[in-house]
Amino acid sequence: MKIIIISKNVNETISLGEKIAKFLFKGSVITLNGDLGAGKTTFTKGIGKGLNIKEEINSPTFNILKCYFNKNGLNMYHIDAYRLEDVPNENKNIGLEEVIEGDGVTLIEWDKFIKEFIDYDLSLNIEILINEDNTRKFIIESKNNQYSMLFEELKND
Ligand SMILES: Nc1ncnc2c1ncn2[C@@H]1O[C@H](COP(=O)(O)OP(=O)(O)OP(=O)(O)O)[C@@H](O)[C@H]1O
Ligand SMILES: [Mg+2]
Repeated sequence: MKIIIISKNVNETISLGEKIAKFLFKGSVITLNGDLGAGKTTFTKGIGKGLNIKEEINSPTFNILKCYFNKNGLNMYHIDAYRLEDVPNENKNIGLEEVIEGDGVTLIEWDKFIKEFIDYDLSLNIEILINEDNTRKFIIESKNNQYSMLFEELKND
């Protein structure tokens, strides 16, 4: 399944995250790719809002993993694997595998550096491109039928 959605501004990106959050479940994994400033963190704020996380969500760049424990719903884990680029595979398992298969929703930036921990048959994969007019193109794809309702909903908008 695949859909392309245009976001005209920050608010639309947050709303998209909020909407997608309603279709996530324990063990959901979202990979997030896109250039610097594309909107990965903004989108993650929208997911957090949709999951009823009250804590402020910001970039995990200096922490490979940020955990948002949530009294009101699913926990959210935000991984930025950028700093694992040059780490040998055998040293990468710093507990990320437990988180990814864990009790909440996991968003992963720079997933290509931790591919071995991700089941791409199950994940929801998002790429954000910056258009010439500064709008954002969200390319959302998944092979996992657990997201078919989500794709139906996104199609109907
Ligand atoms: N439609 C849009 N959706 C999201 N952000 C937008 C949009 N239009 C403009 N912006 C701007 O783009 C920037 C997105 O920043 P954000 O931190 O979310 O990007 P990022 O992909 O996480 O970047 P980085 O790779 O540096 O972590 C913000 O400055 C925001 O105001
Ligand atoms: Mg970011």
